[in-house]
Amino acid sequence: MNQEKIQENTDLKPFNTFGISAKAKKFAPFSSIDELKEILLESKNDELLILGGGSNLLLTQDFNGLVLKNEIKGIELISETDSEILLKVGAGEIWHEFVLYCVNNNYAGIENLSLIPGNVGASPMQNIGAYGIEIKDTVEKVEAFHIKTGLIELFSNNECNFGYRESVFKTEKKGQYIITNVYFRLHKSAKINSSYGAIETILKGKGIKNPTIKEISDAVIEIRTSKLPDPKLIGNAGSFFKNPIIEISVYTKIKETFPDAPSYPAGKNLVKIPAGWLIEQAGWKGKKIDNYGVHRNQALVLVNYGGATGKQIWDLSTAIKDDIFAKFGVELEREVNVI
Ligand code: FAD
Ligand code: EPU
Repeated sequence: MNQEKIQENTDLKPFNTFGISAKAKKFAPFSSIDELKEILLESKNDELLILGGGSNLLLTQDFNGLVLKNEIKGIELISETDSEILLKVGAGEIWHEFVLYCVNNNYAGIENLSLIPGNVGASPMQNIGAYGIEIKDTVEKVEAFHIKTGLIELFSNNECNFGYRESVFKTEKKGQYIITNVYFRLHKSAKINSSYGAIETILKGKGIKNPTIKEISDAVIEIRTSKLPDPKLIGNAGSFFKNPIIEISVYTKIKETFPDAPSYPAGKNLVKIPAGWLIEQAGWKGKKIDNYGVHRNQALVLVNYGGATGKQIWDLSTAIKDDIFAKFGVELEREVNVI
């Protein structure tokens, strides 16, 4: 039955927000754990690539294995008190639609993460974050299918080992699990976090003193729309690099030449420095090479204006990395998942 479910030689262009063409030897969507098991039975020895919305992916070559597109849906109420609610959410739900569902129901906790592309299932992978919030703040547990044993396991928040754009699924357990559902604990009485500078500025401009979660969500959508390219119009995967965490001594050296260099505290003797700032200072912002380049409003975002290959984007990222190291002595780390 699943023979026809597994497509062959599929172009992944519609399935990655960079809009890059690359072929998958096999491709199968699944919308339940049973369906996933059936597909895996038929396709035993293939290398696997789990796909959500393809918004954090750079395809630099064809994939000679099975791409599994996670389409497990559903938002289920697990428990509720006067102050909190626990929801179980299918990995194939679209993240922003889930955020809007929560905003509309007045469930607070993820409104600052409005408009992040991709699916719920990928959100724990890199502990998605924006505007002062990360999903580690609301994830209760993660349900995942162990590929080798075929068993379903639960990872508590602690066991997910969340860090800045990190989790156990991206490090020690990389490639071992397929996330099937994520449990979120949200608040009924809003604990608003509007401390991020840009959010404050928008709310102030609108004369809003005690924002609702809808107003926070709207402010975040406004900020994001003003600087991040819409993948439907310009191919991209959001921030291409992580913001590096560096020794204070390295930062002090940068300040000798750039007294206004921005930074945020990141632990003892450490600061986080915006990679976008480094890339802009190095002269890359807005740079266009043929049909790809560095976004003009956000230097941390590499873009495909149409027809670029993954290899071209990869090479551009290497050139930027090398240049930043030469100019600032700072090593940039790619944030996107590279195939
Ligand atoms: P995919 O790209 O499909 O997959 C990402 C990785 O997770 C891959 O390695 C994939 O194999 C793996 N994976 C996906 N689903 C599963 C699963 N169910 N089980 C196991 N492994 C899985 N990220 C942020 O954190 N903050 C931002 O503010 C932000 N802004 C962005 C803005 C734009 C315009 C874009 C294009 C991207 C942005 N991102 C941001 C990155 C991206 O949206 C997130 O990383 C998102 O969570 C990726 O979801 P996805 O479903 O598209 O994952
Ligand atoms: N900056 C520049 N030039 C640029 C871009 C940024 O100088 O072209 C400097 C500015 O000083 C600015 C600072 O960088 O004040 C921070 O910029 P911004 O608020 O745009 O955020 P970011 O650090 O570039 C991070 C995340 C984003 C997230 C935003 C908002 C990472 C790698 N990126 O970007 O996440 O949306 O903060 O919280 O941490 C993503 O992961 O894909 C992503 C978009």
